[in-house]
Amino acid sequence: MTYQESVRAQAEKLIASGHARILAIESSCDETAAAIIEDGRKLVSSVIASQIDMHALYGGVVPEIASRMHVEALDPLCDQALEQANMTMNDVDAIAVTYGPGLVGALLTGVAWAKAFAYARNLPLIPVNHIEGHVSANYIAHPDLEPPFICLVASGGHSHIVRVDDYGSYTILGGTTDDAAGEAFDKVARVLNIPYPGGPLLDKLAEEGDDRAYTFPKVVTPRPYDFSFSGLKTAVINQAHNLRQQGEEIRAADFAASFRRAVVDSLSKKAVAACKDTGITRLALAGGVASNRLLRREIERRGKKAGLDVFMPPAILCTDNAAMIGSAAFYQLMKGSVASLDLNAIPALGLM
Ligand code: KG4
Ligand code: ZN
Repeated sequence: MTYQESVRAQAEKLIASGHARILAIESSCDETAAAIIEDGRKLVSSVIASQIDMHALYGGVVPEIASRMHVEALDPLCDQALEQANMTMNDVDAIAVTYGPGLVGALLTGVAWAKAFAYARNLPLIPVNHIEGHVSANYIAHPDLEPPFICLVASGGHSHIVRVDDYGSYTILGGTTDDAAGEAFDKVARVLNIPYPGGPLLDKLAEEGDDRAYTFPKVVTPRPYDFSFSGLKTAVINQAHNLRQQGEEIRAADFAASFRRAVVDSLSKKAVAACKDTGITRLALAGGVASNRLLRREIERRGKKAGLDVFMPPAILCTDNAAMIGSAAFYQLMKGSVASLDLNAIPALGLM
């Protein structure tokens, strides 16, 4: 029997049983991660090797360094994930890997590793979309959450409002027309001399600031669920430069708080509006920016006011991790989505 015939038969058995223990790999950007997820919802183990210290030396992600560090981290991380789960390779039913979107070299390291593992162990290989992974983090955190629901996905490269129609089935209601929310956070952080990665540190600083201290332009977009952060980002950066030129001190905490308020107001208002307009009463958060403290509070507040049930994964499942990839993979597997060994990385992979 060929590899392909053998894994097809195995996948069919898993689908019939409705159970699978999946070893998932994530390497799309600057975090290498491995996790074991059971039946899409149960987090058995999850380990993450962050490259932040290395990229911080350069003020941002250096793709070639990211790829090389993934190569070094993948083997030991996989061992750690199995060890933490008290499992051996023999207990794994399938391998999942992020194949896009992301940095091509970084993605390729995970894809090549997962293909080799799948072939060597004769296991089904499940290709996972990174954005779908972010959405699926909610399935781990909230065992009762089922589609349909609205999900606000905000990360370093993406900002979308998505209607999750079913497992693995999405309608994009809106998205950013320019910068992603995380990207805007990172760029403004740089102007405030906050080291990479700027978003989380800017968020922390903003907690001590007055969000009415500085006035920035309102974000306007022609379509109701779209975002635009580039104009806001430029206005904020220009204001910082002007203040500096006039010899005025920038109160960094107030500045960070005012900027964060502008971004979070736009994200949270539009996400809640999408629920109201579609009549869907469940709203979930996903992506690195979903760990933003103000965004979490505002989604809770506005969501409650609108009578919505609000879902958000803990911060560690919002930023890049492999547990979310294992969750998305389970539902892909149950639909029969198994990759062949010519799977390639797709850096600009869309959600649909
Ligand atoms: O989802 P993620 O870990 O990686 C991507 O898929 O991009 O998101 C990373 C992005 C970065 O831009 C980071 O600055 C931002 O999420 N981020 C935050 C916070 N934590 C991470 N932005 C604002 N507030 C935070 N607490
Ligand atoms: Zn991500």
